[in-house]
Amino acid sequence: MKALAILAGLLPALARAALNVTGSTCTVTPLPSTGGQEPDDTPQILQAFKQCGTNGKIVLEEGLFHIGQVMDTLSFNNVDIEIHGTMRWSSNIQYWLRSSLPVTYAGRSTAWRVGGTDIRIRGFGKALFDGQGQLWYDQNRGQSNQNGRPISLTLWHAKNVLVDGITWRQSQFWHTFVAYSENITMTNLDMNATSNSQWSTVNTDGIDTWNSNNIFLQNWTVTCGDDCISMKGNSTNVYASNVHCYESGCAVIGSIGSNAGQPDYVSNVYYDNFTCTHSSNAAWIKTYSGSGYVRNVTFANFNFADVNQPIYVTPCIYGSSGCDSSRLKISDVRWINITGTSRYNIASAIHCSGAAPCDGFHFENVNIKNKDGKSTKYLCSNIANQGQSGIPCTGTCPASWPQQLSGDG
Ligand SMILES: *[C@@H]1O[C@H](CO)[C@@H](O)[C@H](O)[C@H]1NC(C)=O
Ligand SMILES: *[C@@H]1O[C@H](CO)[C@@H](O)[C@H](O)[C@H]1NC(C)=O
Ligand SMILES: *[C@@H]1O[C@H](CO)[C@@H](O)[C@H](O)[C@H]1NC(C)=O
Ligand SMILES: *[C@@H]1O[C@H](CO)[C@@H](O)[C@H](O)[C@H]1NC(C)=O
Ligand SMILES: *[C@@H]1O[C@H](CO)[C@@H](O)[C@H](O)[C@H]1NC(C)=O
Ligand SMILES: *[C@@H]1O[C@H](CO)[C@@H](O)[C@H](O)[C@H]1NC(C)=O
Ligand SMILES: *[C@@H]1O[C@H](CO)[C@@H](O)[C@H](O)[C@H]1NC(C)=O
Ligand SMILES: *[C@@H]1O[C@H](CO)[C@@H](O)[C@H](O)[C@H]1NC(C)=O
Repeated sequence: MKALAILAGLLPALARAALNVTGSTCTVTPLPSTGGQEPDDTPQILQAFKQCGTNGKIVLEEGLFHIGQVMDTLSFNNVDIEIHGTMRWSSNIQYWLRSSLPVTYAGRSTAWRVGGTDIRIRGFGKALFDGQGQLWYDQNRGQSNQNGRPISLTLWHAKNVLVDGITWRQSQFWHTFVAYSENITMTNLDMNATSNSQWSTVNTDGIDTWNSNNIFLQNWTVTCGDDCISMKGNSTNVYASNVHCYESGCAVIGSIGSNAGQPDYVSNVYYDNFTCTHSSNAAWIKTYSGSGYVRNVTFANFNFADVNQPIYVTPCIYGSSGCDSSRLKISDVRWINITGTSRYNIASAIHCSGAAPCDGFHFENVNIKNKDGKSTKYLCSNIANQGQSGIPCTGTCPASWPQQLSGDG
């Protein structure tokens, strides 16, 4: 009886300290660690999202928030979410493997799904998302995608969203995923997932988009294990600019077309002012031999240094079949003002499907030098109207051309 009374007296005090609801503003402060025991701030944060998620404001104060549970927050409506502190996702790998929320794309899942309408998430350059990814990289031991390994933040059936001013360190898996969403603005984001062990990060992409349209990305700095900015199937009307990508695939379309029974369409993508440092590829399009199309893509104002394979197009990624039978057509793609150095003697490798030759390809002011001063090759196969493309083709590009080179070609 007495113990209960004490507990009952204590709990509201704790709750008051952690969550303050004043009108339509919910303010969350992090719980202190007690006796070496890590607290879990997720219940208070979820409560705040619930109470102030419609026509309200949620403020996460400075300090360290421990996120021990998935957050499935799909019904925001006109909300400002202001994050001033660090959100650190727990190290309980087994929990996440069991409980991460599905996002349907290729069996992937996520730690946090955000959905609804008119959502503004601001980090003021102070918000830090710490995925404790090193634990994930080490236990994954360089294997490919692992079921249940969570994407950090997913915009899911979300409309009119701003995500601004957030820093990510050691993301568990992809940093962000945008699916079934429209009118999405993501600006001033800083991401770095770098393994400090023998095991590589494996697919800690900066962003992947899917079944979404009207996406505006600006001012990103990304160091990650795989693709910095990547548009997957049914992404349309995308503008991404001022991106500095280190170590990773820089500006990417794909992979798409992996399911022949389900078409993937990508159109109207404009990548502008990208810097790629020591990247694997700078401006590339990778598809499987499925169905759909890639149409109207511009890569403009690219500057890069020491890139493995600067320009690359393939209809049969990762050694998949159908390099010359694919009907997934790639057309109206422009590379304009592309300057930088390649690691090997290959400036561009473009192999299009024999069954659906690329059309409307255009090089303008493309100037790629080998970093050691060797002459560079521009390999081309199955490009319609090649003569008008401006591509200084030096030879054919074999169907089996690899996406990463390990030496001169
Ligand atoms: C809750 O927030 C309001 C508005 O910021 C503030 O005036 C009040 O003191 C806070 N209450 C507690 C218990 O922290
Ligand atoms: C798009 O989203 C932004 C918030 O990022 C909002 O200000 C704007 O009004 C939205 N546009 C439309 C057409 O709804
Ligand atoms: C990313 O983090 C690694 C490891 O901490 C660091 O060496 C590297 O300089 C960082 N990259 C950028 C662009 O800051
Ligand atoms: C992006 O950075 C440029 C300067 O580098 C700045 O002019 C622009 O306002 C920034 N964009 C946003 C959305 O903050
Ligand atoms: C290009 O992007 C860089 C950041 O990567 C930025 O500093 C610069 O201002 C941008 N240039 C233009 C013309 O917007
Ligand atoms: C892409 O959109 C098309 C047409 O709306 C649809 O048939 C297809 O299933 C979508 N693809 C995927 C992978 O969702
Ligand atoms: C091509 O994409 C750009 C945006 O990148 C858009 O402004 C233009 O209207 C598109 N062209 C066509 C024919 O759809
Ligand atoms: C290419 O660069 C020139 C010179 O800097 C510039 O005037 C032009 O606008 C750029 N083209 C595009 C498509 O950005």
